[in-house]
Amino acid sequence: MTILDIVTYPDKSLAQPSEKITDIDETLKTLIEDMADTMFEAPGAGLAAVQVGVSKQLIVINTTEEGQENSYMALINPEIVEADGEFISEDEGCLSVPEFRATVKRFNRVKVTALDVDGNPMELNEEGFPAVVLQHEIDHLKGVLFINRISALKREMYKRKVKKWMKGR
Ligand code: NI
Repeated sequence: MTILDIVTYPDKSLAQPSEKITDIDETLKTLIEDMADTMFEAPGAGLAAVQVGVSKQLIVINTTEEGQENSYMALINPEIVEADGEFISEDEGCLSVPEFRATVKRFNRVKVTALDVDGNPMELNEEGFPAVVLQHEIDHLKGVLFINRISALKREMYKRKVKKWMKGR
């Protein structure tokens, strides 16, 4: 089991779009397993590769049911191909944005296409919270954090808080 370091805001790499994956090799499979371990350990609902310093279009989603053994899904080159409705995501958070939560307006339903760990095309249709997790993680691959989707006033409050922490270090 390998727990990777999580990159946190304001690291500039989090604002960069990730590259499409062309080779699904052993290195990538190891990365997927390490990302899953890191997500379970945190714990988090999902994790994008850019959050562990790898700028590739890869996300893992926590599919663990309460009281069950840990399980996850890996999506390579995921893309939202359909989205509708509105979902108010309350208390949304991110492992890369510590000590902050906010309400974010999301789509209620999304259809996502991706490749699985074996390179086979897959399609997901999700609604509500699982749809929010997919939107949040796919945003990471575009260099977008949830704090980019809240009011400028709230974002400035958080930025000031982070600046204070950094001075205190
Ligand atoms: Ni996040």
